[in-house]
Amino acid sequence: MDGLILVAAGAGGHAGEINSFAFVDSVRTFWDGIILLAGSISTGHSILAAQAAGADLAYMGTRFIVAKESRANDEYREMLVDSDHDDIILTDAFSGVNCNMLKPSIRKEGLDPEQLAKKEKVDFDSMSKSSESKAWRDIWSAGHGVGAIKKIDTAAGIIKQLEKEYQESLKKLTGQAEKLKGIISK
Ligand SMILES: Cc1cc2nc3c(=O)[nH]c(=O)nc-3n(C[C@H](O)[C@H](O)[C@H](O)COP(=O)(O)O)c2cc1C
Repeated sequence: MDGLILVAAGAGGHAGEINSFAFVDSVRTFWDGIILLAGSISTGHSILAAQAAGADLAYMGTRFIVAKESRANDEYREMLVDSDHDDIILTDAFSGVNCNMLKPSIRKEGLDPEQLAKKEKVDFDSMSKSSESKAWRDIWSAGHGVGAIKKIDTAAGIIKQLEKEYQESLKKLTGQAEKLKGIISK
């Protein structure tokens, strides 16, 4: 095993249940190899925070669904641009395992996201095959970081923006550290 991907709470798809910071701290007690942290990382600021928390790499899903190169359809892309974390519901109604889904996509298929019937058993097949509205095809997933998505862009454009945000955060933190050093040495 070369590394561990920690899928934390708030991630798109079948999300974890543990807070990102607590998860990294916990895994670091027995693992000093590569950690990829996943879950709600949608900005360059959050990538830096993931590194500061002890992860080596940020693992992102939701942020790239809007990329022009992705196989998502335009309606899904537009819904991501229009949604924020309030539009996400963690539900086991589709596969029997908790999954973060977009409430507007559930409503679009005539279902009430607040009244979904619990699925009693784990059944990934029914998520993509049996029902008339197919989860993944018609009912869509996103993580809590969806609110940071403001426009449809190319993958290169998204990466450029992430780099800019990362550098801005690094600069801000470096400035704060310098100020603190000045205060402490007085
Ligand atoms: C629509 C969608 C489908 C996904 N499908 C899978 C999958 O088949 N296997 C998997 O390991 N993770 C899957 N994921 C989870 C991602 O690999 C990743 O852990 C997650 O998107 C990271 O959280 P974020 O979306 O908040 O960035 C999926 C995520 C989304 C949004």
